[in-house]
Amino acid sequence: MFSWQMSLRIFLGIITGLATALILHACQAEPNALNNGSNVPSSAEANKVAVVSKSQDQPQDKPKKTELPPATKAIVDSVPNGLYDPPRGDIRLAVISDLNSSYGSTDYEPEVDKGLSLLPFWQPDMVVCSGDMVAGQYPSLTEDQIKAMWAAFDDRIAAPLRKAKLPYGFTVGNHDASSARGISGKFLFARDRDVASKYWNAPAHDPGVEFVDRFEFPFYYTFKYKDVFFLTWDGSSDLIPKDKLEWVEKSLQSPAAKAAKIKILLGHLPLYAVTVGRDEPGEVMANTEQLRAMLERNNVHTYISGHDHGYYPAHKGKLQLLHTGLLGSGPRPYIGSNMPPRKTMTIMDINFSSPELTTYTTYDMKTMQKINYNELPKSISAHNGIVLRRDVKMEDLSASERSNCESRLGANLCSA
Ligand SMILES: [Fe+2]
Ligand SMILES: [Fe+2]
Repeated sequence: MFSWQMSLRIFLGIITGLATALILHACQAEPNALNNGSNVPSSAEANKVAVVSKSQDQPQDKPKKTELPPATKAIVDSVPNGLYDPPRGDIRLAVISDLNSSYGSTDYEPEVDKGLSLLPFWQPDMVVCSGDMVAGQYPSLTEDQIKAMWAAFDDRIAAPLRKAKLPYGFTVGNHDASSARGISGKFLFARDRDVASKYWNAPAHDPGVEFVDRFEFPFYYTFKYKDVFFLTWDGSSDLIPKDKLEWVEKSLQSPAAKAAKIKILLGHLPLYAVTVGRDEPGEVMANTEQLRAMLERNNVHTYISGHDHGYYPAHKGKLQLLHTGLLGSGPRPYIGSNMPPRKTMTIMDINFSSPELTTYTTYDMKTMQKINYNELPKSISAHNGIVLRRDVKMEDLSASERSNCESRLGANLCSA
């Protein structure tokens, strides 16, 4: 016969067993909760993006494909030979640019969503954007229309990044907040600038970067991520006022900049043009050589720019020039090339132990194939100078390639 103590022991044993089983089940359910719960867009957002939160606890190596959200997995699975998964650096940036569609549009092209949906595959530490996030710079747009564009940007791009806790470092483009001035010296698009400034300065829209100096955020500011120092200047038109350039140089010499292992500059207009339709004064930064000398003097490693709507990894002098391709509408062909234009997105891995410091992995956003350097022109000669592809030295150019440049631009502009 069982004593009452024995009965109680058996009863407690059953309860303990049940409780253990329940706890184990809850633990096993956790990964699903991560992918199907708060980190996956609600049904209203389902056709937009699937950005998974970057948890502090996540390992820094590549994510397991089984953990990918359905929208990400569907894109990855659609790539015939598999989506190229680059070796991870110490720090990884997803670099995007020129997201906007036609003037006044509150919609985005599918490649914008595709790029964001793939973030859980790449697991960047930060997203960086070289401008043109909305479609302004059109005088007849009303304030309400401009606000509606920023609301659409927030809904489609910024809010999912905030939710995923991915910092967003950016610079403004001419379609966001043009700094072009009229004869009177006043901003021609003061309303665009005002709305953009109010949008970005609203605490609810904090981009999540670690600011060093907010100076004139969102036009001029500095921030850092671990050992990377970023400076954003207002390259939404070709001229940077003298007082702002003084701030730029001072910031590049600040203790935070000096303590960093790499300095990266973000600006919309490039120093040199690389695509058709952008090869004229006003479409590139003015006083290019002085700017480049200043950046080299202050050990800026890379200038990340947008505006040209064509990916071109270049270098000139000591400076790396990442001309970011676009995700929005209007890819442009390269100057002097017959290559069809394409939309792209770049993953930049920073390796502090490698002499080059950075590696680009750039994808054609239609085919999702990796773009190799040797598919691109070896050099591009624009009206204000030649730039070389990142892996090309001047001596790699043939005599005819050099003389082509010199006959057009003169020997001075044809050195790199
Ligand atoms: Fe653009
Ligand atoms: Fe632009």
